[in-house]
Amino acid sequence: MPLKVAPSLLSADFGRLGEEVRRIERAGADWIHFDIMDGAFVPAITMGPLVPEALRPHTGLIFDAHLMVENPEAHLDSFARAGADIITVHVEATAHLDRVLRGIKKLGLKAGAALNPATPHHHLDYVWPLLDLVLVMSVNPGAGGQSFIPAVLPKIEILAERIRESGRAVELSVDGGINSTTAPQVAAAGATVLVAGSALFNDPGDMELIQAFKTIGGPRHRV
Ligand code: DX5
Ligand code: ZN
Repeated sequence: MPLKVAPSLLSADFGRLGEEVRRIERAGADWIHFDIMDGAFVPAITMGPLVPEALRPHTGLIFDAHLMVENPEAHLDSFARAGADIITVHVEATAHLDRVLRGIKKLGLKAGAALNPATPHHHLDYVWPLLDLVLVMSVNPGAGGQSFIPAVLPKIEILAERIRESGRAVELSVDGGINSTTAPQVAAAGATVLVAGSALFNDPGDMELIQAFKTIGGPRHRV
């Protein structure tokens, strides 16, 4: 079970998004990671459902919508209509995590929960049966190009162990500061999905990193 790679379009050239999607697809990406920021949960405003909706007819890649928005329950329908396959909400953004995750699943989509660097894994204790994906933020959400926070590595290990114990196929995704130095570290800790933006899009040649990331082995990839 090779690692999956989900390029974050946040670092792509927004003037040529269609071409950028074709570029990452040719390079072997598994998913497309959409960073949805509302200017409230995080200061920046990035994109709404119109962007995945416009790209949906042009690619069969899995659409991974990372909602960095307050009141995420108000936006589930619009991202479902836009063609999202996975919707991930932040545990810090809602008082009703159980209900929001059930709402995503009721739309027939995969449900994910994201944890900011300072948020303990225990926030997921009572929703494991509802989770298809856990997203560990390895930077504070709100921008691409930030440095990886190594303090989250033990949290990734604990979550990987928790998933192993559950016996369920829950993806463990890590997002923020992923590059050729940090990718092997998070893979060794148990990640199954790597989200990467600036490491792939900032320099023309770096798209080959996708194949390099996919061949990194890890504890969950020796099944
Ligand atoms: C940050 C986003 C990340 C970011 C990753 O809030 O959730 O997906 O775009 O970009 P890099 O890989 O440059 O840290
Ligand atoms: Zn993200």
